[in-house]
Amino acid sequence: MAIKYYEDEKVFKLDTKNSSYVIALVDVENFICHAYYGKKLPDYHVRHLLRIDENPFVPSKNNRDRGSFNDSAFFEYPTAGIGDYRTPAFEVKAENGTKTAALTYKSHEIYKGKKKLEGLPATFVNEGDDCDTLELTAEDKCLGIEVTLVYSTFVDSDCITRSVRVKNVSGKAAYLERTLSASVDFEGNAFDFITLHGSWARERHINRRPVTVGTQMIRSFRGESGHQQNSSAALVSKGCTYTSGEAYGFNFVYSGNFEIVCEVNQFGNTRVEVGINHDTFEWKLEEGAEFVAPEVIMTYSAEGLNKMAQNFHDIIRNNLIRSSYKNKPRPVLINNWEATYFDFDEKKLYSIAEEAKKLGIEMLVMDDGWFGNRSSDNMSLGDWQVNEEKLRGGLKALVDKVNALGLKFGIWFEPEMISPDSDLYRAHPEWAVKIDGREPVLMRNQLVLDITRKEVRDYIYGEMKKVLSSANIEYVKWDMNRQLCDLYSAELSADRQGEFSHRYVLALYEMQEKLITDFPELLLENCSGGGARFDAGMLYFSPQIWCSDDTDAIERCYIQEGTELMYPLSSMGAHVSDCPNHATGRNTPFETRGNVALSGTFGYELDVTKISENDRNQIPGQIDTYHKYNELIRTGDYYRIASLSENGVYDCWAIVAKDKSEALVTYVEGMRRPNVHSQIVKLVGLDENAFYALEGTEDEYNGAVLMYGGFSAGGTWGDYSSKLFHFIKKQ
Ligand code: DGJ
Repeated sequence: MAIKYYEDEKVFKLDTKNSSYVIALVDVENFICHAYYGKKLPDYHVRHLLRIDENPFVPSKNNRDRGSFNDSAFFEYPTAGIGDYRTPAFEVKAENGTKTAALTYKSHEIYKGKKKLEGLPATFVNEGDDCDTLELTAEDKCLGIEVTLVYSTFVDSDCITRSVRVKNVSGKAAYLERTLSASVDFEGNAFDFITLHGSWARERHINRRPVTVGTQMIRSFRGESGHQQNSSAALVSKGCTYTSGEAYGFNFVYSGNFEIVCEVNQFGNTRVEVGINHDTFEWKLEEGAEFVAPEVIMTYSAEGLNKMAQNFHDIIRNNLIRSSYKNKPRPVLINNWEATYFDFDEKKLYSIAEEAKKLGIEMLVMDDGWFGNRSSDNMSLGDWQVNEEKLRGGLKALVDKVNALGLKFGIWFEPEMISPDSDLYRAHPEWAVKIDGREPVLMRNQLVLDITRKEVRDYIYGEMKKVLSSANIEYVKWDMNRQLCDLYSAELSADRQGEFSHRYVLALYEMQEKLITDFPELLLENCSGGGARFDAGMLYFSPQIWCSDDTDAIERCYIQEGTELMYPLSSMGAHVSDCPNHATGRNTPFETRGNVALSGTFGYELDVTKISENDRNQIPGQIDTYHKYNELIRTGDYYRIASLSENGVYDCWAIVAKDKSEALVTYVEGMRRPNVHSQIVKLVGLDENAFYALEGTEDEYNGAVLMYGGFSAGGTWGDYSSKLFHFIKKQ
């Protein structure tokens, strides 16, 4: 078993291939304390890691200073109100209005495999996976609350997942005010905190700052994970690079309001916590009821950020994504959004499809604007009836024609939204999220539907299902173009309004679960005004997520570098678009746009009938390249080699096959500098004793030479040029 309990030491040891996580029951009261997380340890004498044999000692030895113990102990699940003045993970309001909880060990269970988290996305175990689970139940007898901390070890990907179940056995209602999913205390503070921040069109840029006294926090209040902060973070040792140093990664499997806290206390120790944003959360727990907090994936790497990223990529690809496309290349699509925006009809779409087919494109995606009276973003959300003035002959006729060309067909929806100017709003104004008597805040001229109401989600899903059943539609882009505010649901009692934000996310999950159950072969791509819902929660439902509305190849280097730190390349929606780029006005070579998009799902977002002959002629070759390397990109190990955001000169990353038999290196330059030597690129992850041939040349390199000495990327010309290098291991 990868999880062991040493009764004599009262220690739980959770092992993965290269890491150990140690929990200990402390003192006669059995406080559940954290002892260690890091490089794998041998199986004995780990208890002394607790460092409790010094002032203030444990309460049985020094009860007069129990408060000092509480304020310095490394608790596995710290609670509010007991004199631990760091940020708590758990805060519950009892019927008497108090908010104090103290948890001690009650029981535990260790078993093979892992249970589902009802209603929530979570990692799962495949046949043959090495995965054990520890359920550690703690109680507050005074409150009548039981808290079960659930840990699962994914041995091969070096990941440990955590979630929390809370049960009310008090005989009265209780209100959960904070139920985070994980808390880990670390010795010292010689760390940097890495998060992914941004805005619309510049999502997930890497931000790295030193951990310092006090609290740093990222969070979302937007009802989704958001453009601004991603629901993942890393705590890394000082000087940690892509290839060396220690990195602890946290990836929250959740798509709503979250918080990630990094706090250094008075003794210089660091606490990291991940969970639902407690500011927009309250949950009434009736007697006997349970609440389940979403899952966090944690990983430890002793080999820098690349290994951390690889661990996340492996677990997300193997144990989180469920789609039938998970192990298949995705069809090369062409999406009409940047090509036409709202200005299209069936003729225009068909002309794009016809040209696309000639070039080897495999699917046409019809984006926003095909329904109701939608001629701009001002109206018709909620009216999911095909606009037959635009699509003369109807949807099926268009899909059939596109299929007859040999192309698949995909469609865009924004199911959670309603335009004030829509038939749906005129019929059901009460279905929009708003507070009686208060003018709701518009964003993009739209409101949010209260999908926490069953009748609302059933209606919307029913409308979607009608459309999807009416023609051979093989792909859906599920978009969300505004955030939530004016939170209120007419169906919730006043003492349950605090549940709204979480209930909204559960409702979204329920709708997407229905969709992929009813249409198991559908390729679902999530999207939110670009990449505002790029999180591990959504990847349970869709194998890919639109990364950003910014398709500029250079800006994509920043966005994709950040995204790749936490999520697999196969999940990044990436398209080649036209220039000047719609988000930046920048011109980049068509070749570079292709090379950058190649590391994602790959597709086109342009009017293929209008682009230059020269660009168009490159498409068949780009598609061949996609097919040639997609297996490697989907399944291989990602290594970041250089970062344009750091060096200002060039970006470089490699995908190396798991068996080290080949490597694809992407090299992208920023602005061309005159009179410089060509760049030396040092590879990573190769077999150092093997020889590798560089495809397209007679050159042959030793693996060690490529890694420690490097190879020359050669000359380039013009701004934003790029190259692909394919190394193949010689037999
Ligand atoms: C935002 C998406 O990110 C775009 O790709 C496009 O689908 C628009 N919404 C449509 O409104």
